[in-house]
Amino acid sequence: MTILVTGGAGYIGSHTVLELLNSNQQVLVLDNYSNSTRESLERVTKIAGRKIDVVRGDIRDASLLKSIFSSYSVSSVVHFAGLKSVGESVEKPLEYYDNNVVGTRVLLDVMNSFGLKKIVFSSSATVYGDPAEVPIREGFPTGATTNPYGTSKHFVERMLMDLCTADPKWHAISLRYFNPVGAHSSGLIGEDPNDIPNNLMPYVSQVAVGKLKELSVFGNDYSTHDGTGVRDYIHVVDLALGHLAALNKIESLSGFTAVNLGTGKGHSVLDMVQAFENITGKKIPYKIVSRRPGDIAICYADPSYAEKILAWKATRGLSDMIRDTWNWQSKNPNGYKG
Ligand code: NAD
Ligand code: WQD
Repeated sequence: MTILVTGGAGYIGSHTVLELLNSNQQVLVLDNYSNSTRESLERVTKIAGRKIDVVRGDIRDASLLKSIFSSYSVSSVVHFAGLKSVGESVEKPLEYYDNNVVGTRVLLDVMNSFGLKKIVFSSSATVYGDPAEVPIREGFPTGATTNPYGTSKHFVERMLMDLCTADPKWHAISLRYFNPVGAHSSGLIGEDPNDIPNNLMPYVSQVAVGKLKELSVFGNDYSTHDGTGVRDYIHVVDLALGHLAALNKIESLSGFTAVNLGTGKGHSVLDMVQAFENITGKKIPYKIVSRRPGDIAICYADPSYAEKILAWKATRGLSDMIRDTWNWQSKNPNGYKG
């Protein structure tokens, strides 16, 4: 049986494909390379010592999906494919709703017609909006999102819930990621943003490698221990293993299940800068600028449900995250472009 991984050439997808291969699963990747290159999968093949079946194409292409499900015996789908830039989603909301919501609708429709009813979906802590308290538990209200990207994740979750209500044969696990960072310890695969990074860790590592001059810290007047935003950073390999845990349990979990994937620990922007400097010995010049619109003060998970229901918890700490980020960035200053 084969696991179809949509968006498997991307940052989290490539790390998950590697862990799936390491656990002897058959994997088929479907990716349109809109935010990735074939090189990530070449490197996954190199690390794993195993070939991967790859189809270049789009999740919105129903006839392509039909031909995939006709040719392969697919047992479950791990669904990463989608657009993920918060800022871009504000400028191009229809692209986000088309790719993320319509794309998932097409995928679910074709899966349904083939009687394939098991999906693990890449959701995000962003569905919680600005939570009333922390740590965030899965039962907290969702949907008060602050940008079209977050809303698209919320819509997909609603679609999955409604589908599971309509047809009890469906099994959908929505994994709500907190802040994925880090890279595989080989330094061969990692996060490769196309443009100037939006997210903190890729920005910091590009400052460290000399590609960017200084970090702008978005606000130091939040009610946190040092005034800067606090987040739950999770190592991408722990996150990848969370998908394997979800696949292990999916048969026994009927209907829709939402699970936080985080560590339960919050770190501020300045904590991250300090830790990066300590671990890498690189100086990170920074300046404090005004808050970034839409940002919240504090966001970290209660990860206990994941441990209970998936028998999974994150085991890699902040120093692993930073060491592996730097190992990837310093070995690949221009990402997969060499
Ligand atoms: P990524 O951009 O590196 O990977 C997404 C992959 O999907 C890319 O390889 C891209 O080419 C592909 N893709 C996009 N649209 C497609 C389409 N229509 N058809 C086929 N392939 C398509 O992003 P990532 O960081 O690996 O994130 C993976 C998933 O996890 C996304 O759904 C993202 O929204 C979600 N997520 C990411 C984060 C994060 O901080 N990275 C946090 C929470 C959730
Ligand atoms: C972390 C902290 C910033 C950059 C986003 C999405 C979320 C999810 C993960 C996909 C915040 C601060 C950042 C910089 C800074 N993605 N910061 N200077 O905003 O928690 O989450 O990525 O699902 O949906 O919203 O992550 O890494 O952008 O920011 O000061 O140049 O770092 O203000 O406090 P965020 P981030």
